Amino acid sequence: MSHPPSEPNPWPLEAIWQAVEPTLPGFTGELLPTVDSTNSELMRRFKNGDTAPTLLVAEQQTAGRGRLGRQWHSAAGDSLTFSLGMLLSPAAWSGLSLAVGVSLAESLDPHYSAARHIALKWPNDLWLAGGTGVERKLAGVLIETASWEGTRYVVIGVGINIRTVPVPQDRAAAVPPGHLQMLSPLLDAPGALLRVVPPLVQTVQAFSEFGFEPFQARFALRDALAHRDIALSDGQQGQALGVNTDGALLVQTASGVQVVAASEISVRPTAGRAGTGGQT
Ligand code: BTN
Repeated sequence: MSHPPSEPNPWPLEAIWQAVEPTLPGFTGELLPTVDSTNSELMRRFKNGDTAPTLLVAEQQTAGRGRLGRQWHSAAGDSLTFSLGMLLSPAAWSGLSLAVGVSLAESLDPHYSAARHIALKWPNDLWLAGGTGVERKLAGVLIETASWEGTRYVVIGVGINIRTVPVPQDRAAAVPPGHLQMLSPLLDAPGALLRVVPPLVQTVQAFSEFGFEPFQARFALRDALAHRDIALSDGQQGQALGVNTDGALLVQTASGVQVVAASEISVRPTAGRAGTGGQT
């Protein structure tokens, strides 16, 4: 893993990379002190012809992006922001963001407890949840793809709040986002990176071979919306019934069961468990 020699390097990079590298055959690792967005940077490199499998970590993003054109706010040391870029040819792409979420949740919270756990909020959010606590967004996943010679180049971007995250002024009244140290007080950004990346690469490879189906039951265990009343951004309302083998959300509405694909829809619970804080 490399970093610009002129920059101070507060992360124990060599130690991290020595642990991660054997699990990532063929990957290049790189840490940037600052970049607009790790997703944007990998897509720029792809457009310049670089399709090599790459793990790109940024200590700070100046224009982090979330799903549906939203912003992703983070500050150096308070967040872990990285992207994996690679060529991938799965039989079907549906459910990839859910499989990535399952992998992240299981890595960061291996001992699921109903009282306090990482839940998955369809299609791409990780929430801190459980018991009577307020649900708070902890992490998000942004997946982007581009065509390349009959296959696709995929960028899997992950943002995880590690410590208290500054809340944008226009959202100051909202419940603040969750952060990982609420669950694991001693885990910092390098430690979290070490924990999540090797299983994530294995997950992507398994998804490429077998699709979403092997992840369906694992998603269901942590499904934050299951059996709750929800509202979709297209105006529909209903009760969430879980996800199918493609990772589509099943919603019982007045006019029957709707199958909702992830693309441009957002969803929120209208009742069930306290409020929901977090970015975007
Ligand atoms: C979301 O919650 O809508 C997804 C957030 C994804 C944020 C990560 S941070 C690393 C990568 N680079 C970006 O600009 N976005 C993703």
